Amino acid sequence: MAEPIRLDYVVPGDDFTRAGEASADLKSRLKSLGFPPAAIRRAAIALYEGEINLAIHAGGGRITVALTPERIEMALDDEGPGIPDIALAMSEGYSTAPDEVRSLGFGAGMGLPNMKKYTDEFSIASTVGEGTHIRMAVLTAG
Ligand SMILES: Nc1ncnc2c1ncn2[C@@H]1O[C@H](COP(=O)(O)OP(=O)(O)OP(=O)(O)O)[C@@H](O)[C@H]1O
Ligand SMILES: [Mg+2]
Repeated sequence: MAEPIRLDYVVPGDDFTRAGEASADLKSRLKSLGFPPAAIRRAAIALYEGEINLAIHAGGGRITVALTPERIEMALDDEGPGIPDIALAMSEGYSTAPDEVRSLGFGAGMGLPNMKKYTDEFSIASTVGEGTHIRMAVLTAG
């Protein structure tokens, strides 16, 4: 069986001119590889939200994608401040985004809920003072 295709991205912190690059690159690669449009759309939305969170809330981080015909797996890892209350952070409308970030249109508190909604598998682990780890998968037949 073929090895998964791996893609690696580094997301810089607080650089909104580059935020969105990883999800845009993933989207175009998935298109070239012939993945189903619905799966591409869901993966790109989820990765975009995760990527923006890395830039805004974590001072940057790393994304690793593993592709097989059946699965689009995305791992997001940062060494930011961590999330003290994950259930609260996962609730719709909860945001700690500062005013200058809100003025750019972010901070609705919908990123994490949408990452869960648009993926088939979602898990988050976070330790205050150490960082946050998110694993998501979109199943291409799902
Ligand atoms: N990687 C992260 N590191 C630290 N805190 C995070 C991280 N991701 C999310 N958070 C926390 O969880 C909250 C909710 O995240 P979520 O993405 O749902 O909303 P938001 O980023 O504030 O706004 P939106 O995504 O709608 O623009 C954030 O405001 C922040 O407090
Ligand atoms: Mg967000």
